Parts: sequence; C-alpha cells; structure tokens
Amino acid sequence: MLKAFAFAAVTALGLAGPALAAGEGGHIEDVAFPHEGPFGAFDQFQLQRGLQVYTEVCSACHGLKYVPIRTLSDEGGPGLPEDQVRAYAANLLPIMDEATGEERPRTITDPFPSTSGMGMGPDLSLMAKARAGFHGPYGTGINQLVKGMGGPEYIHALLTSYTGEDQEQAGVLLHENTAFPGGWISMAAPLSDGQVTYEDGTEATVDQMSMDVAAFLMWTAEPKLMDRKSVGLVAVLFLLVLTALLYLVNKRLWAPHKGKLSA
Ligand code: HEC
Repeated sequence: MLKAFAFAAVTALGLAGPALAAGEGGHIEDVAFPHEGPFGAFDQFQLQRGLQVYTEVCSACHGLKYVPIRTLSDEGGPGLPEDQVRAYAANLLPIMDEATGEERPRTITDPFPSTSGMGMGPDLSLMAKARAGFHGPYGTGINQLVKGMGGPEYIHALLTSYTGEDQEQAGVLLHENTAFPGGWISMAAPLSDGQVTYEDGTEATVDQMSMDVAAFLMWTAEPKLMDRKSVGLVAVLFLLVLTALLYLVNKRLWAPHKGKLSA
C-alpha cells in the first residue's frame, strides 16, 4: 500500500515535471544518450566528436580549467592515442609556468585553458552537473531521477532552442532561447549546420553537434561515471547474494521452533 502510494507520487511528480518546468525554466527535451541507464557507457566516438565541437567552436569563449588534458586518453572517455593527446595539448594556448613565472607550451599534464574577460562564457568543466538539478518541479531534480534527464539534455536543448529573435537590453544583445531560464541569453547561437567536419562522416547538423558536445561535457563533469556504475552494479549483486544468504540462515535458525505455537 505504502509502496503503491510512493510509486504513484513519484510518477505523478515526474509526469507533472515538464509542464511545471516549462513555466519556471525553459523547455527541455529528453535525449537518449548512450551513457544513460545502469549498463550505459559513453560512446567513445561521440566524445571525440564532442571534443572537436568544443575545440573548434566553444573553446573560443569557454574554458575547461578543471579537466586535465591527459584524461583525453582515458579508457571509458574519448580514448585518444597518447601521441594525439600530446599534439592536442601543444596546440592549445600556452600556460603560465608557476615555477618560472613564464609562459610555456601546454603539455598533457596541464589542464585545458580557462577563459575570462568580456563576452566570455562560464567555464564548462562542471556545467553538465551544475545544470542537472534544473529539471523537474521547483528544481527538485525529479526528472533526472525518473527520466534520466539532466545536464546533457539541458545543454543539448540550450544549443538547439534559439528562435532567431534578438533584443538589446542595457546595451547587451540578448538572443531568445526557449531552453534558457528567462528566455533570453547573451550567448549568440554558436552552432550552424555543417560548422565542423566530422572525420567519421557523421553529418554535422546542429542537433548532432549539440548532442555530441553535450555528451562530451557530461564526460568532463563526470569522467568516472562508468567506474561508478560498475561499482554500483557489483554492490547491488553483492547485496542480492547477501539477502539470499541471510534468508536461508534465518529459515534454518528458526526451523526447529516453527509450528510450535500451533502444535
Ligand atoms: C562567442 C562566445 C561564445 C561561444 C563561441 C560559445 N559560448 Fe556559451 N556562453 C557564452 C556566454 C557569454 C554565456 C553566458 C550567457 C548568459 O548567461 O546570458 C554562455 C553560456 C553558456 C552556457 C551556460 C548557460 C546557463 O545555463 O547559464 C552553456 C552551457 C554554454 N554557453 C555552452 C556553450 C557550448 C556547448 C558552446 C559551443 C558549441 C558555446 N557555449 C559557445 C559565450 C559563448
């Protein structure tokens, strides 16, 4: 009874989510990302495409200062060969060496560059997690719990929800975006069809690039998601075995006393 009620309550909240969320925040569509679900894993090629979109488009205004460059070769992440990661690092902006106080080329042990200044956007390292709670009624994150809708869905929606309307407010040009809370964002639509050329032949539509970069930013925010999932699965299996054992032990212990009352 209690169970049925709890289930009904959670379902009702989940269903009410989109309607309520649309009122307070923006409109977010669910996306079936490969990393979702208990057995989901990041798609290595999608992460590589996302890295390309980030590098060629977003990095002009957004840093990733909490992401160590060497993690690009991590298994479960983009999984790039190390020589490619080395070459990638060398192509980034130089870094100020704290020991010498001088600039030097970036190496794989350094983090991605950060950005600051006029017109620059916020750091994106943890954005996918920072925005995860925006879904569901009153920012409860219920949609994330019930439907697996979180930060990556928000980022995908943000990048695909420009209406093309602009307005100037206090000298700042704002762009209408139905996913952004408040509806007007100062970031101009960063993507247009065919903006990057994917090596694997995937068609670079705005929708595709948005999904790829959103998956990539989910990985930067939670690079150990896969490890955590496998630890979680092992824990669940362990608990199942333990439950079975305890049940059997319990039966055995009480077997001699069973039926005594009625006898
Ligand atoms: C020309 C500079 C520029 C480029 C290029 C750019 N952005 Fe932005 N971005 C901004 C600015 C400025 C903001 C802050 C907007 C605001 O708060 O009104 C922002 C905000 C954001 C936000 C945060 C929205 C929020 O909820 O606060 C996300 C996510 C984002 N950008 C993602 C991206 C991605 C992904 C790309 C690449 C596809 C990209 N941006 C390219 C300038 C840029």
